[in-house]
Amino acid sequence: MSVEVREQMTSTDNPMGRPVVAANNPLIAERDSHDTRPLAIKTINVSRVYKIRGQKNKNGETTKTLTALGGVDLEVYQGELFGLLGPNGAGKTTLIKILTTLLAPSGGLCYVDGLDVVKQADEARRRINMVSGGETSGYGILTVRENLWMFSQFYGVSNKDAQERITKMLKIVELEDKANARVSGLSTGQRQRMNFCRGFITDPRVVFLDEPTLGLDVNAARIVRNFTRDWMSEDPSRTVLLTTHYMAEADELCDRIAIIDHGAVLACDTPANLKRLLQKQPVFEINAGGLNDRSLDAMAHSPGVVRMTSEAAEGGSAYNLKFILEDEAAIGGVVSTLAAHNGNIISLQKNEPTLEDVFIKLVGRSLSQNEE
Ligand SMILES: Nc1ncnc2c1ncn2[C@@H]1O[C@H](COP(=O)(O)OP(=O)(O)OP(=O)(O)O)[C@@H](O)[C@H]1O
Ligand SMILES: [Mg+2]
Repeated sequence: MSVEVREQMTSTDNPMGRPVVAANNPLIAERDSHDTRPLAIKTINVSRVYKIRGQKNKNGETTKTLTALGGVDLEVYQGELFGLLGPNGAGKTTLIKILTTLLAPSGGLCYVDGLDVVKQADEARRRINMVSGGETSGYGILTVRENLWMFSQFYGVSNKDAQERITKMLKIVELEDKANARVSGLSTGQRQRMNFCRGFITDPRVVFLDEPTLGLDVNAARIVRNFTRDWMSEDPSRTVLLTTHYMAEADELCDRIAIIDHGAVLACDTPANLKRLLQKQPVFEINAGGLNDRSLDAMAHSPGVVRMTSEAAEGGSAYNLKFILEDEAAIGGVVSTLAAHNGNIISLQKNEPTLEDVFIKLVGRSLSQNEE
């Protein structure tokens, strides 16, 4: 969106209360015009184009660009745990970086807690915090407690509050015994847990969690999920924007989810409503052997197949195939095609639709599948 529009929006009343910009997408649940719930995050046609280094014309201008975000409209209510779900390179981190003032948008408008993140970046920073999964930063020569205390001081938290919050958070993430250990001696997962604590000791109004459970063991991931939920329920005005690759995590945690790919929002609704999209389209899973590219292709084009994904099963020649069908009867044709190509079925089952299936239907591939 042009700069002209930015001026228009900020010179009038608080844009956080404005109705949604027409999305023109039936999969994006529009906000009811009577809905007066305050918004914690709003983006209007936000875009980001990266210049690719090393590609210059004879005038020294960068010629190659990559559009990471192509005009994203999002609305996250105060008190919501909102998930951004998308494959590698979808633009999730780019959007989070823009919303946390770390990166300037190429166009469009972004508001967090009522503030324009470009024009009111300093004030916005005081109200937010961010945790990136896999992040192993921290000052090695300081202890865990010193590190967290230092960050709390950047935000002007009183010494008493900081010490109390640090003690509480370290207990929650089961890192109490490391409070006085140097950060350089922590394992990767322990550092990550410390960084998770860092995201909350400043008492932010909006927290951005970019894959917070990435690389954590099962127990630590559960602690992170439980804490996030508890933290939200302690104060209904708190908001979390979370990105994840883990469908089950998004399904379990999030009030609403936006599925994004190639820098665009494909669908946005509650997990239950998203799954309802598939209610009329049954999902079948077949484990089969004796297949090749030709037979896989024939099955994908069997009548009534909306989507098919195939993954080679671990440690063998069999394939796990997933089908989204127009109706149940279509499975007969799939089985006949498989038999006609000398494939053999090891197992066949009908599944309740999951978010993964919704994702496959919308994006055309599973989250774990790389793009061709
Ligand atoms: N600094 C950069 N310079 C050039 N291109 C970039 C830069 N950062 C990201 N990109 C590109 O922008 C696109 C979106 O990247 P982004 O990191 O936002 O994706 P993501 O959804 O967070 O992916 P992932 O799941 O892998 O974390 C990708 O194609 C990426 O290669
Ligand atoms: Mg990312």
